[in-house]
Amino acid sequence: VAPELVDAFGRGHNYLRISLTEKCNLRCGYCMPEDGVDLTAKDELLTADEIGRVVKIFAAAGVDKVRLTGGEPTLRKDLEDVVRRVSGTPGVRETSVTTNGVTLAKRLDALRANGLTRLNVSLDTLVPAKFEFMTRRKGHDRVLASVDKACELGFQSVKVNCVVMRGQNDDELLDFVALTKDKPINVRFIEYMPFDGNKWSTKKMVSYAEMRARIEEAYGALTRVDDPREEVAKNFTLPGHKGSVSFITSMTNSFCGGCNRLRIMADGNLKVCLFGNSEVSLRDAMRSGASDDDILRVIGAAVKRKKAAHAGMHELAAQDNRAMIKIGG
Ligand code: GTP
Ligand code: 5AD
Ligand code: SF4
Repeated sequence: VAPELVDAFGRGHNYLRISLTEKCNLRCGYCMPEDGVDLTAKDELLTADEIGRVVKIFAAAGVDKVRLTGGEPTLRKDLEDVVRRVSGTPGVRETSVTTNGVTLAKRLDALRANGLTRLNVSLDTLVPAKFEFMTRRKGHDRVLASVDKACELGFQSVKVNCVVMRGQNDDELLDFVALTKDKPINVRFIEYMPFDGNKWSTKKMVSYAEMRARIEEAYGALTRVDDPREEVAKNFTLPGHKGSVSFITSMTNSFCGGCNRLRIMADGNLKVCLFGNSEVSLRDAMRSGASDDDILRVIGAAVKRKKAAHAGMHELAAQDNRAMIKIGG
């Protein structure tokens, strides 16, 4: 990657996450404060043109993987258009989306045709009534249908993200693992992380060690896949399973040393770390007539301010950050 995308610790950033909206059609407690969030005015969100422009700038500097997030990205009517622009940008090899899957199924064909290669779907429970409790909305059956349709369409990978919370869904670990027997999906159990307004506590978080022990008690030792350094998840296979199981251990085994990720949020702010609170507006730079080179310099200065690692879970719980829904994961 270009020097602007290399931080003070030598980490090169080739993975860009772009949040397309601050809105969502679900209300998961770990992501959105109970009272909601103040929404940025529509004319202050990046347009599809502006997204296309920043992606070109990042891709020219070496970004080859782009993930579109939210809020819920399928709430953007122009999602297919954004996917087409991103996937058509020279240098971009992977265009992926992270979605809650509720309204995804009917758009999958078009997304695929526009160049979407990978899909991560958030699903925290297999019990319909619990879905309504955890998300405060209906739609469980539609999420399951979206996962199945994505598998049928043969995306390069279909991952299911499951944020594990004690007393809510931690009794379903084995049911989620069982799902990987016949479905070619990668189920990823995620440690609950603290963000503004999400009432995080160590008590509610279930650690990687505990999750893994509970699964190995039932299934025997899991086999670790040899992952690249920048991989977010610790990946495992199970004999006879079409799918696989992973853990995202941001709290108890953080993986900042291999970080290759930068984030642009829906309002056009660049965030160089999920838990960093220094931000810079690429939207304002673009709207004040900056050239591509000027913008790359702004990006480079922000990347150089990136810290070696996040502060640790107790510090993070006390620190100001955005609500998750305004970051995009
Ligand atoms: P892949 O490209 O398939 O590896 O997806 P991903 O894990 O990068 O993205 P996804 O949107 O599916 O996020 C899954 C979980 O990983 C979410 O809880 C994210 O918040 C978390 N995550 C993603 N990137 C980072 C990161 O850089 N740092 C930390 N701490 N967590 C991350
Ligand atoms: N802790 C861990 N993961 C979270 N996600 C959202 N909020 C949290 C949190 N507090 C996950 C969602 C989605 C991904 C982008 O981030 O489940 O799959
Ligand atoms: Fe990268 Fe920050 Fe996540 Fe660590 S916490 S992996 S530095 S984004």
